[in-house]
Amino acid sequence: MTEEIHKGLAGVVADHTAVSKVNPESNSLLYRGYPVQQLAAELAFEEVALLLWNGELPDAAQKEEFRAFERSHRALDPRVKSAIDLLPLDCHPMDVGRTAVSVLGANHPLSEDSSPEAELTKAKELFAAFPAVVAYDQRRRRQLQLVEPREDLDYSQNFLWMTFGEEAPEEVVDAFRVSMVLYAEHSFNASTFTARVVTSTLADLHSAVTAAIGALKGPLHGGANEAVMHTFEEIGINPAETREDAAARAKAWMEQALAEKRKVMGFGHRVYKSGDSRVPTMKQALDAMVDYYGRGELMGLYDGLEAAMGEAKNILPNLDYPAGPTYHLMGFDTEMFTPLFIAARITGWTAHIAEQRANNALIRPLSAYNGPEERHL
Ligand code: COA
Repeated sequence: MTEEIHKGLAGVVADHTAVSKVNPESNSLLYRGYPVQQLAAELAFEEVALLLWNGELPDAAQKEEFRAFERSHRALDPRVKSAIDLLPLDCHPMDVGRTAVSVLGANHPLSEDSSPEAELTKAKELFAAFPAVVAYDQRRRRQLQLVEPREDLDYSQNFLWMTFGEEAPEEVVDAFRVSMVLYAEHSFNASTFTARVVTSTLADLHSAVTAAIGALKGPLHGGANEAVMHTFEEIGINPAETREDAAARAKAWMEQALAEKRKVMGFGHRVYKSGDSRVPTMKQALDAMVDYYGRGELMGLYDGLEAAMGEAKNILPNLDYPAGPTYHLMGFDTEMFTPLFIAARITGWTAHIAEQRANNALIRPLSAYNGPEERHL
């Protein structure tokens, strides 16, 4: 019998989901029915999180309740801080994020309670707690002290405050908020599917999120936003250069990379073949940061790579391409970019975990054996 193999599960529809709809034909992405571009233009990230979890936009009372909840669950748990302090400064920050979620799970009183109410509480707490993990990790790598959260700031303002120890300007907060909204959810991507596989065994929420972080780390998935910056660094970032000169160098670099058959991160997508629906909105946020920091030459690199990739292979940028340089301009170290993606995607992952649990079937595909025929000792 010859089985049909769907390598990488490409084209396989594994289940239904009501969380988001990715439509490559119309190049659209809907969260619970709402175009992501509209959400990014108008809503706080906290409201988008509630939409993903609850299926509907929050009313004023729900917003207020979550506002108070989120602000009161931001402080870095001392047990998490101790665990982070045990990790070497040169380990990847994704390892820190993965460990932090694991420690939070091990200490959670509701860890083994998988009722919808307990799961939502754990999801909201994780959402509120994770920024302090990223912020503290970024600071300790710079030999800086922990900065306590501020309850008078919203999620994005406070995230930047805890990371940099100063209030971020409105323009920066807004670009950051947009990136969080765009990174929040994207149907059955590798990390979300991982979270669903773990949930399908009836394991706890923190185990599912920890596993999802492992999947997100890879450069073919979330790690691509860092890899984009490594490409820029390999080409060479020179703030004194003109945009045109930077573009010319980037173009030449890309031609050479493609001649060497290198995969260039930040381009291509398994689902979108004619452009990633999230890129125009993220590119606007990047443009705002480039204007704010006066770094036109970075856009030279950006445009040069994009043009050369388009001409040679007609492959378009994905969300990680504009997100990488945006986070760089804000002042994050390159290795911190994918942990920022965790902070955003906790919303989508936990919405999918709830959905999987509500209508569960163990996820366990078959394989076609191609090893040696039966043999005997
Ligand atoms: N750089 C160079 N070539 C690329 C490419 C890239 N970023 N992405 C795709 N291609 C080429 C492949 O080399 C392949 O060419 P070939 O047919 O001549 O061998 C073809 O396009 C198909 O690529 P493949 O990797 O098989 O398609 P996929 O659907 O599995 O790929 C990704 C999806 C995302 C894994 C792929 O585009 C990729 O590796 N991109 C870079 C990583 C990245 O940015 N990930 C973030 C995704 S949001």
